[in-house]
Amino acid sequence: MKFFLDTANIEEIKRINDLGLVDGVTTNPTIIAREGRDFETVIKEICALVDGPVSAEVISLETAGMVKEAREIAKWADNIVVKIPMTEAGLAAVNILSQENIKTNVTLIFSVAQGLMAAKAGATYISPFIGRLDDIGVSGLELIEKLRQVLDIYELKAEIISASIRTLEHVEATALVGSHIATIPGNLFPKLWSHPLTDNGVAQFMKDWAEFSK
Ligand code: G3P
Repeated sequence: MKFFLDTANIEEIKRINDLGLVDGVTTNPTIIAREGRDFETVIKEICALVDGPVSAEVISLETAGMVKEAREIAKWADNIVVKIPMTEAGLAAVNILSQENIKTNVTLIFSVAQGLMAAKAGATYISPFIGRLDDIGVSGLELIEKLRQVLDIYELKAEIISASIRTLEHVEATALVGSHIATIPGNLFPKLWSHPLTDNGVAQFMKDWAEFSK
């Protein structure tokens, strides 16, 4: 499974990219607004930092506006992926953009039907939101599992980006059900390599070595 970072924070991206663990980055208007910096500048900086795909979202809600924005955003870097909301207008935009070889990530997917529609419209990536489904008492993981089955049965090319990931358990479980990618918030990522028993173990080794070397 590939690891994307769900952040526009340059320091978070640099820290984890230095470990060789960043396969891509996803952003959305909320994430960009959190940084309080110019959209285009931030996206270009991220694209220069990481080798993998970087998702930047359109703001328009109409097809023509989305396509216009997407064509502009796609010029910012070679590794840009344009994020499009899962609406009728969005599907029409994805259909047009896929014919122009502009990569798309269809976001805010909450059902198998929506995922299938987006994949058939030509999306490069589809982003089901695990945490927000869990919030309303529906299993986000079950959706990921079913989407993977549907994509495989019909040999559709779209890759699943498990999004709205909130916990370490989400990351582990989404890997087990065959998500192609997990996009992980910058503040959650360090928890993937941490375990209290590792910390205790290191402390014990150091203590015993200090005793022995006296
Ligand atoms: O990747 C989508 C993510 O940014 C939304 O997460 O926690 O607001 O549902 P959340």
